[in-house]
Amino acid sequence: MDRPKKKVVLRAVNSMSSLSTSVKENGGKGMRAVNSLTSISELDDSDLLALLVDRPRVKLERKNSYEEKSFSELSLYDGLETPTFSISDSFDPHPMVSKAWEALFRSQVYFRGQPVGTIAAYDHASEEVLNYDQFFVRDFVPSALAFLMNGEPDIVKNFLLKTLQIQGHEKKIDRFKLGDGAMPASFKVLHNPIKKTDSIIADFGESAIGRVAPVDSGFWWIILLRAYTKSTGDHSLAERPECQKGMRLILSLCLSEGFDTFPTLLCADGCSMIDRRMGVYGYSIEIQALFFMALQSARSMLKEDAEGKEFMDKIQKRLHAMSFHMRSYFWLDFQQLNDIYRYKTEEYSHTAVNKFNVIPDSIPDWVFDFMPLQGGYFVGNVSPARMDFRWFSLGNCIAILSSLATPEQSMAIMDLIEARWDELVGEMPLKICYPALESHEWRIVTGCDPKNTRWSYHNGGSWPVLLWLLTAASIKTGRPQIARRAIDLAEARLLKDGWPEYYDGKSGRFIGKQARKFQTWSIAGYLVAKMMMEDPTHVGMISMEEEKHMKPVLNRSFSWC
Ligand code: GLC
Repeated sequence: MDRPKKKVVLRAVNSMSSLSTSVKENGGKGMRAVNSLTSISELDDSDLLALLVDRPRVKLERKNSYEEKSFSELSLYDGLETPTFSISDSFDPHPMVSKAWEALFRSQVYFRGQPVGTIAAYDHASEEVLNYDQFFVRDFVPSALAFLMNGEPDIVKNFLLKTLQIQGHEKKIDRFKLGDGAMPASFKVLHNPIKKTDSIIADFGESAIGRVAPVDSGFWWIILLRAYTKSTGDHSLAERPECQKGMRLILSLCLSEGFDTFPTLLCADGCSMIDRRMGVYGYSIEIQALFFMALQSARSMLKEDAEGKEFMDKIQKRLHAMSFHMRSYFWLDFQQLNDIYRYKTEEYSHTAVNKFNVIPDSIPDWVFDFMPLQGGYFVGNVSPARMDFRWFSLGNCIAILSSLATPEQSMAIMDLIEARWDELVGEMPLKICYPALESHEWRIVTGCDPKNTRWSYHNGGSWPVLLWLLTAASIKTGRPQIARRAIDLAEARLLKDGWPEYYDGKSGRFIGKQARKFQTWSIAGYLVAKMMMEDPTHVGMISMEEEKHMKPVLNRSFSWC
């Protein structure tokens, strides 16, 4: 079939030509140390600039008016009249950037002549295709952000509308029908060269390993709709009746009343990026953080009409309850760890301190060494008598971006990443989780999964795609030097190694045992990280501020103060 010629104009690389630039000297000031516990709102303009500029200061004035809209979202810049940017790679793009764009364009998938997404991996050398020739909703997110940042929103709009149509398909696993709001994990375009037709087959979990429905897909869809709206200033897409309905259908799956005693969302193992059994069943941080972000995003887009009003009320209440629950019970820092270590068990009644009956003996040894005096994080899972103390990168970065974490908690998470750099970043950003499950625990928890052996794949592997999330979180917390360090590590290897899906080993030194090459989200994640560093206002597409009435709560440990 005839496909439109790909735009091989590498606009990001040349984006400088659309910017009028003037360079100001930094007055020899250089980067001054800023106490990492200082909250964003306490910093004055010169502090913010100092944080963002580690080389001579560069001032750029942008021309795209739509970018100005997202600019106001970033509290980091509140009070600054002219967006002022730094990062001198803008003037000297890394050679990897153009290679990455070429690879990203090549991965585009077309449906009836329109680009609708990007294939998971374009790895011709690999004999086993599995489902990497499909187009995954979660994998498309960094691609979509890259296209939006590059001023190419059409593919994102096509994606949003196409997935909405697919949502309308009947979804059945054996004889059981899934909820109407379920979004696909992935889909594939089938081209019939004889009839010259295109058709789509989607997977809602009925072909996935373990037959789990992707809970994250619907959340990512809502988050992306907001990113599209922020980036383009085009509200008409989100306002369309089909988009409003799509949001409501997704939300009704997670806001319905049931037997829950917690505001968090109960989920099966393998229902998100970690799509195999890894002991993330229950209330995993990844799902909770994405749920929170999707609720925030929906609140900004849902119409308060007859149907929307009821959802708005539910969203508001849920956000309120969730922020309390997560900030109180999922949060772990030195003080909190010490409190849990001294917990009494079998406490009954409303006065119980150890509400979930976590038995101190279940605290794993590694966490006592891992926890720095300054810093903290949201643990992997909290449910009755079970705290999963593992660190998960995606959930913690999304917690920062969605303001599920308070500004102080956000700072503490970044403190922890710095303090435990070797463990969490090592030689390739970023560990999907830490530490790996080994031996007996691996056998029991993963069911002897041969792909998830220790320090590989989902079990402590390092995933380059997570670079964009780390970068966004670093910029939001005013600590871009963390992102800079991580990007340098990625640039030393990613292209040379052929953009692997993941790396193995304690420090992420080895290309993953079964990693695909030319994995699209590794490529797009890198581009998004670079573009955000070049123009930090892009972070506004994916970042949201804390609602005043949700302000905390507890003040029980010193990494908060
Ligand atoms: C693997 C990952 C999953 C990803 C898919 C396609 O299954 O675990 O998160 O979406 O590959 O890249």
